[in-house]
Amino acid sequence: MNKQLTKIIFPAAGMGTRFLPATKATPKEMLTVVDKPMIQYGVEEALASGLDDIIMVTGRGKDAIENHFDISAELEANLHAAGKDELYQKVSHVARMASMAYIRQKEAKGLGHAVLCAASWVGDEAFGVSLADELMISEKPVMQQLREAHEKTGFSVVALAKVPDEDVSKYGIVKTDAEQDGLFRLRGMVEKPDIVDAPSNLALIGRYIFTPKLFDFLKESKAGVGGEIQLTDAMNELAKVEPVYGMVVDADRFDAGNPLGFLIANATLGLRDKKYGDLFREELKKLL
Ligand code: G1P
Repeated sequence: MNKQLTKIIFPAAGMGTRFLPATKATPKEMLTVVDKPMIQYGVEEALASGLDDIIMVTGRGKDAIENHFDISAELEANLHAAGKDELYQKVSHVARMASMAYIRQKEAKGLGHAVLCAASWVGDEAFGVSLADELMISEKPVMQQLREAHEKTGFSVVALAKVPDEDVSKYGIVKTDAEQDGLFRLRGMVEKPDIVDAPSNLALIGRYIFTPKLFDFLKESKAGVGGEIQLTDAMNELAKVEPVYGMVVDADRFDAGNPLGFLIANATLGLRDKKYGDLFREELKKLL
C-alpha cells in the first residue's frame, strides 16, 4: 500500500568546515541569504511540496536551528506591542509553519549516517531528504517536481544538475541510461570522483525522494570517501535491486555550501528582492 508522502529529513549535523570561522559557533544552516537563514528556504520548499512532517538531524552546537523554528513569546509580544506588524508576522510564521522533530547525530559519521539516524521516525514509508545548503528557487518547488515523478513511477527519484568538468569532484555523480520521459534510470553513482573516473557530468544536488528500502543499505554501509558513511554508496546499492530515477530539475540552483556559491546566492537573490533589489543594484553599480 502506498502511503501519502509527507515525511522529509533535513540532515543538519555537519560541521560546516567550508565556512570556518563563520561556522565556529553558528550552524551553517543558519547563515543568511538576504533575510532568511538557508534552512528556512529548504523548509518552505518542502512545505510547498506537501512534505510537512519534518525531522532535522542536528548535532552539538545546532540549537539555533531549533530556536529559529520555535515560538519566541517574548519577541512576538515585543514586536506586537511596538506595532511592528510585518516583522511580527514573519517571526510568528516561522515558528508555526511546520511540525518539526529533532534527533541528534552524536558522531560526525557522514550524510548517509545522518539519514539513517531518522530511520525509525520514517518507518516503512517513502520520504524526502533535503540538504539546506543547496538553494533551489523555482516556480514549481523542486521537491514537488520530484514528488510528481515519484508518484508516477512508485520508486526513488533524485534531483540532478549538469555541472562543468571542474566541479565534478565536488559532488555525487551518476551513471544513467538514456533519458525517457524526462527521467534517467540511474545505473550507478560515485561520490566525488576525479574527473577521469566520473561516469557523466550529472550531479546529485541535495534533493531526494527515497523508498524505505534505502535504509536496508544504509544499515550495511561501510565508511566510504572521506571516512564517512555516504548516502551515495547506499543509493548505488539500492539502484541494483530496484529502479532509482534521476531528473534534471527546473530551478535556479545555488550551491550555497561554500563561500563563493553563498555570495552568488546572496547577490542574485538580493538583486531579485522586492524590498532591497533596486537599491542593491544601485550600490553594486558604484562598486563595479
Ligand atoms: C553532499 C552529497 C553529494 C551531493 C552534494 C550536493 O556532499 O554527499 O553526493 O552531490 O551534497 O551538494 P557535501 O556537499 O555534503 O560534501
